[in-house]
Amino acid sequence: MKQWDHLATALIPGSAGTLDLYRGKDDFTIRLNGRYELMSTRKHGSEDALGRLPCRRLSQPASARILIGGLGMGFTLAAALNEVGPEAQVTVAELIPEVVAWNRGPLGNASGYPLQDPRTQVYDGDVGELLRASQHRFDMIALDVDNGPEGMTTRANDWLYSLKGINTARNALRPKGILAYWSATPDRTFGQQLQRCGLMVDEIKVHAHGKKGARHTIWLAETR
Ligand SMILES: C[S@@+](CC[C@H](N)C(=O)[O-])C[C@H]1O[C@@H](n2cnc3c(N)ncnc32)[C@H](O)[C@@H]1O
Repeated sequence: MKQWDHLATALIPGSAGTLDLYRGKDDFTIRLNGRYELMSTRKHGSEDALGRLPCRRLSQPASARILIGGLGMGFTLAAALNEVGPEAQVTVAELIPEVVAWNRGPLGNASGYPLQDPRTQVYDGDVGELLRASQHRFDMIALDVDNGPEGMTTRANDWLYSLKGINTARNALRPKGILAYWSATPDRTFGQQLQRCGLMVDEIKVHAHGKKGARHTIWLAETR
């Protein structure tokens, strides 16, 4: 049986739960309440795609303004940075301060230390609050704060996937902006919710790892 060393625990604000960081022989995992695997440095194909795919639709990637929420293990952030130019600015919003510290420390090597990139700015807090405070500010917003529309980490995140939350995110976009959402599980109604907010939607299935096995869902939604 694989040996995992428990490195650290972080409390999830606004809930009774925890995120727990573990190190294996060649990889790291973060588990919800020490049990359910939420992220792994071994499987990040769909997290990479969440950063890459919407950036490839940007009309001006060289100087784009991007928001990623949340940081997790930094793969979505790293993939977005890889697609944009030297004048771009990428804000990453992360609710849990320890997650930022883990990425500056033991976790950083797995994603190539994207927090050290001079184009990266960290927003310590709820991405929902940043969205509510932002008007026509971002060319691309990629949201992966939970397991998807049926979140598990904190119920407060349900709002982000509601009509109100989608419209707030849409309002934070510049003209011709792109909204991207990630989900571990399929959701038949979420694409329709995006359409009800007047967005053109592509639903894309992406393998969690490599070219076989479990697939995750990414919605790319654009203003008309
Ligand atoms: C599934 S992980 C993101 C994985 C990430 N895409 C990656 O590349 O590794 C979700 C992250 O969002 C953070 N988070 C949860 N709710 C949040 C919120 N409301 N605002 C900002 N970050 C949040 C969690 O602490 C966690 O780090």
